[in-house]
Amino acid sequence: MSLEFLNQRLSVPSRQLGEPGPDAGQIDALLNAAIHVPDHGRLSPWRLRLIRGEARRQFGERLAQIHVRQDPGVSDKALLKDRERYLFAPLIVVVIAHVLDGHKIPPQEQILSAGCVAYNLLLGAQALGFGAQWLTGWAAYDSAVAELLGLEAGERVIGFIHIGTPIEPASEHPRAALADVLAEWTP
Ligand SMILES: Cc1cc2nc3c(=O)[nH]c(=O)nc-3n(C[C@H](O)[C@H](O)[C@H](O)COP(=O)(O)O)c2cc1C
Repeated sequence: MSLEFLNQRLSVPSRQLGEPGPDAGQIDALLNAAIHVPDHGRLSPWRLRLIRGEARRQFGERLAQIHVRQDPGVSDKALLKDRERYLFAPLIVVVIAHVLDGHKIPPQEQILSAGCVAYNLLLGAQALGFGAQWLTGWAAYDSAVAELLGLEAGERVIGFIHIGTPIEPASEHPRAALADVLAEWTP
């Protein structure tokens, strides 16, 4: 495997994603590859939910309802964003950290393992020729949305991974300079 693939990894904004999405065989292969992650203690501390088809519209509608209930003064623009956000990409994979509290494997390590699943989905989608973007937004941190998604106690949303075909290419942006983040440890 060449490092070039990692250097070329690029998110495609969800608004630039459209049909077709991965077919059933590609979804199966992608999800299986995505859970091939480092996992201290073999806890499988992640769960996945697919949102696709008509469920995308209903999910956005329910988010808007929750948003209004929590903030009756919420702007129309914000509500439109809630309603539209899940309509662009044909497939959204919700990556959930299933955290065992009080386990000898610290929660941070379980959450990071789930983060690896999310990142693998980005890499895997791109490897299959699709575009993808990892989004969170308020919905990822809201208890009413957690209930809507059917999350159990100890579970939290790591991200919504939007996957589809790029309808316009994503543009690259400046990346961090290694020298700014690298130091040699000296005793
Ligand atoms: C945990 C996480 C949450 C993110 N949530 C959002 C988000 O809600 N909205 C957004 O515009 N970008 C979000 N991003 C950033 C995009 O996924 C993406 O990284 C960004 O568009 C830059 O593209 P790049 O991945 O090619 O650098 C998030 C990234 C991470 C890692």
